[in-house]
Amino acid sequence: MTRLIHEISELTRKPGVVRAFVPTMGALHQGHLDLVDASRTLVGTGGEVVVSIFVNPTQFGNATEVSKYPRTLESDLAQCEASGVDIVFAPSVSEMYPDGTQTSQYVSVQPGPLGSILEGVDRPGHFAGMLTIVAKLLNLVQPNFAAFGEKDYQQLALISHMVQQLNFPVKVVGVQTRREPDGLAMSSRNAFLNPEQRTEAASISRALFTAQAVEGNVDAKLSAARDLLSGQIETSYLVAMTSDLSRKLDGTEIAIEGRILFAGLLGSTRLIDNVPLGGVNPNE
Ligand code: PAF
Repeated sequence: MTRLIHEISELTRKPGVVRAFVPTMGALHQGHLDLVDASRTLVGTGGEVVVSIFVNPTQFGNATEVSKYPRTLESDLAQCEASGVDIVFAPSVSEMYPDGTQTSQYVSVQPGPLGSILEGVDRPGHFAGMLTIVAKLLNLVQPNFAAFGEKDYQQLALISHMVQQLNFPVKVVGVQTRREPDGLAMSSRNAFLNPEQRTEAASISRALFTAQAVEGNVDAKLSAARDLLSGQIETSYLVAMTSDLSRKLDGTEIAIEGRILFAGLLGSTRLIDNVPLGGVNPNE
């Protein structure tokens, strides 16, 4: 039976019970449930899996984006129940930010250099807001493990840096991206796509997996990807980087290790995806 709690004071920790944590903003899909399953595997039947559902206002660009974000608590709870989640923590904004959500009103975690590339360019303040809420949630839930999806690859890298550099006593676990049958990476934002955009969106993963399969240098891979992206998509970045995101790969490099990362706008919906530079398309 899943226990739904809204208040920090209810988040007690049973001594000796191993806990894994899946922070989410709700609108749960199979990608989130994969994180729950990975968490259960980590803690075993005697352990506890905690999911948080909180649309964090400080990681959005403006109030309209926050209000437009899908909120589906009832179906989220049903999915958590069916997946054997022990606790769902769904706090209010004032519970998490009692002093207010303006940057002048709370202490925040600054992402450092990794936060100013890729997503950090188009979404100023996003990573500071995201890291701040993840830090707060980790302190409240005190898990042994915390699971995050590889779809938000830069987010996963930043959280790993934060945990390591600020000495959080938790092990961060990355879980492979779950895809729709046509390859589109699952995301709560896909709900914003109209049917035509939804079809065009599949070109992103097609492009990335094609690039992955190209045997050649980085330029050849990226140019193969560019050729396959739908003309309706306005690319924000399409780059190859080292797996730890510390360096952009040079076009002439022939590398096996690394990551190809994409972000772009389809209408007004921002979509991101990434794949290993060399590897196997899980959809084939
Ligand atoms: O990936 C998300 O859903 C959010 O960025 C997270 C990690 C739950 C923080 O609000």
